[in-house]
Amino acid sequence: MAKYVIKKSLPLEGRVRISGAKNSVLPIIAASLLTDDVCVIDGVPSLEDVNIICRLLEFLGSKIDVHGDCLRIDNGNIKNTVAPYELVRKMRASFLAVGPLLAKSGEVKISMPGGCAIGTRPINLHLKGLAAMGAEISLGHGFIHAKASKLTGSTIYLDFPSVGATENIMMAGTLAEGQTVIENAAEEPEIVDLANFLNAMGANVKGAGTDTIKIDGVNFLKGANHSIIPDRIEAGTFMAAAAITGGDIFLENVLIDHLKPVEAKLKEAGMLVEEIGDGVRVKCVKPLQAVDIKTLPYPGFPTDMQAQMMALMCTISGSSIITETVFENRFMHVSELKRLGANIKIEGRSAIIEGVEKLTGTQVKATDLRAGAALVLAGLCAEGTTEVVDIYHIDRGYENFADKLRQLGALIYRED
Ligand code: UD1
Repeated sequence: MAKYVIKKSLPLEGRVRISGAKNSVLPIIAASLLTDDVCVIDGVPSLEDVNIICRLLEFLGSKIDVHGDCLRIDNGNIKNTVAPYELVRKMRASFLAVGPLLAKSGEVKISMPGGCAIGTRPINLHLKGLAAMGAEISLGHGFIHAKASKLTGSTIYLDFPSVGATENIMMAGTLAEGQTVIENAAEEPEIVDLANFLNAMGANVKGAGTDTIKIDGVNFLKGANHSIIPDRIEAGTFMAAAAITGGDIFLENVLIDHLKPVEAKLKEAGMLVEEIGDGVRVKCVKPLQAVDIKTLPYPGFPTDMQAQMMALMCTISGSSIITETVFENRFMHVSELKRLGANIKIEGRSAIIEGVEKLTGTQVKATDLRAGAALVLAGLCAEGTTEVVDIYHIDRGYENFADKLRQLGALIYRED
């Protein structure tokens, strides 16, 4: 089984390029199902999650060609509307195919996603939205079956600004009759990227990036070309890596506007963060201090950066409180960080962290994608050698993680 072997490293130095955003590319590949024409997407990161969604589309009948970081997707021959357990089980984001398939083909049958490491992650809001648009939804034998000869626009209030539900409803709304309004919509930059792609296909989506999105349905969508925005979570992870090693690095291809809360918290801790051209310099200029963090939907602090910031807080003298409000069970990394010598107590939805003088290397396991990244960061500053196992989680969302870290001087090797 593949693992990372990490040795205590010197402060990271140098430059590295940030890849396209995983959380943009997955819904955008799904959205290509809305047209029979060819779509060309570039800036696509080479990730396991991207492979899975491509396999799902190919299972449905898509023809996908990959040229470097560019995907050419031809959906002119979709003959299947069933998404099997095998693929949905591997990646929850497979559920993003539901909105486009239903809107385009009038029917979709998809395996229920089931639980996952960071909580139960229900899909009630996706289904509530699609039902309000006239879909007939039935559940049975582990599958969700949705049918609608024609979806009709409706006003849908989301009880929580779910990213996936906003995306699914937005995609379904593009081909619905009349206007669909999503209230309390998610405002993440990846939603805006998806809306831009949909509009390039001929859709009429307004308000993406605010809490109210209006979609005026059109009769058909055409093919489009699109470049994926930079991955703000990959960038944030490298910023935290610079902090935890006391480094000075330059990240190319970063939109710092998408990273405001991460930038604010790193600056509050004492880091220098400076936007230069299309990138950002992150430099440790003085001993860092502990800061409190609370995760929230965008533009609040991203839950996908919580674990990495916790790894950092474990190494800074003083105490900090990290509160997770987005997912109910996203502290799986705590017990692994404790194996490295961290001092963390969990009270309800908060983790109370007392910085320790040093972490000490041992074998730990990645319990989910961001937890895995956090353990790698901790390994960079732990005494001796840290081995991170179950790194298939990390492969899901970081392109060439070890290579990029090594480019900055980190002592990290992959063993397969
Ligand atoms: C997306 C991101 C993921 C990120 C998360 C929150 C992708 C592919 N993944 O996941 O990296 O961590 O946003 O920023 O973009 N919820 C419900 N009912 C629903 C749907 C969600 O109660 O129908 C709840 C979830 O249980 C969770 C919260 O809403 O507590 C946020 O989930 P959501 O925003 O939907 O996350 P995802 O779209 O799955």
